[in-house]
Amino acid sequence: MPDRPKRRSALLLVAAFQLACHRTNVPLPTLPPAPAGNATELAARGEYIVRNVAACGGCHAADQRNPDGPLSGGAEFKDWRLGTIRAANLTSDAATGLGAWSDAEIVRALRNGQRKDGRLLAPVMPYEWLHDMSDADALAVARYLESLPPVRNDVRQQPNLVFKMGKALFLGPKAGTTVSAPPHGPTVAYGDYLANHVALCSHCHTPRGGLRDEFDNSRAFAGDATPPKDFPANPANITPDSATGIGRWSESDFLRAIHTGVNPKGDSLNRFMPWPEERRMTDDDLRAIYRYLRTLEPIHNDVPRRSPSSAPR
Ligand code: HEC
Ligand code: HEC
Repeated sequence: MPDRPKRRSALLLVAAFQLACHRTNVPLPTLPPAPAGNATELAARGEYIVRNVAACGGCHAADQRNPDGPLSGGAEFKDWRLGTIRAANLTSDAATGLGAWSDAEIVRALRNGQRKDGRLLAPVMPYEWLHDMSDADALAVARYLESLPPVRNDVRQQPNLVFKMGKALFLGPKAGTTVSAPPHGPTVAYGDYLANHVALCSHCHTPRGGLRDEFDNSRAFAGDATPPKDFPANPANITPDSATGIGRWSESDFLRAIHTGVNPKGDSLNRFMPWPEERRMTDDDLRAIYRYLRTLEPIHNDVPRRSPSSAPR
């Protein structure tokens, strides 16, 4: 049996690969003690992040047409690599929502992609980016979610075989972490933090590709002419390229586009771009994001707009 040793080394390789890549439980994070007497302020910060910055309702709202409504979940995402995945119920219902979860369990779900029971969340949930949300902001988000009135909605997941195999072999939660945010202000550093790890601009505006549909970070923010098929519009190129990105936009052009949903060319932005939520961000936060985007390498990538919603002016 001359091929025996070969087969054994192949098996060993597979086992080593599994050990190397398959992280199991991420320990629950130790969170900074919430400042005493500041419970309302903390939940208000969480509300600002969930409703205005990250626009979590775009996925988690019960009614997709009303992202500001109850976050009781149910929206369906279908992908051949995952199966049918549904947005979770984030309200405080104890049986079907987060009512029985601790702060740390919610923070771990956001940043590491693990449920209370340890199950890996489908990467539809953007923990790839939320991983570096600060401890303080993640705690604020948890406190806001805990304050949501309970809505009973039993959301069922239907992972397919491909996703189950992936979980058994190579997919795992993201490593444990502690993060502090740069000081708040209209600075490049704070804009970097917001655009990548809170506002999820990166999650939509960075192209993906390959068998595992991974983000191509060498082309971060360069837009995507062939986005996942459930995207109703093509995420624009928001690098400072003059021809195909937002290189010619001034800071006030940028603020106006987010405030009004109309870009300097007069195109109305598709509602999938969450400008109706993001326009409630403070001008300082929007300026921080603009200033950060200006520091990116301009990438030439012509992303055609789909079904222009206004006549050219
Ligand atoms: C692109 C869509 C999308 C966005 C944006 C999104 N989520 Fe999720 N989220 C999901 C999906 C889908 C699941 C369920 C995944 C699974 O169970 O495998 C989920 C799961 C969760 C869970 C785990 C709850 C549970 O019962 O399993 C929490 C907590 C959560 N999301 C919070 C948030 C918060 C807070 C935000 C905004 C900062 C957010 N999500 C943004 C799609 C999204
Ligand atoms: C849920 C996905 C999604 C998220 C999150 C998102 N965008 Fe967009 N964005 C889009 C899509 C899609 C378009 C194109 C809209 C269209 O073609 O009408 C767009 C368009 C834009 C435009 C207009 C560009 C142009 O040339 O007209 C700007 C500016 C922009 N986004 C900035 C941002 C910023 C900044 C953030 C984070 C604060 C962000 N986006 C978050 C999906 C998203």
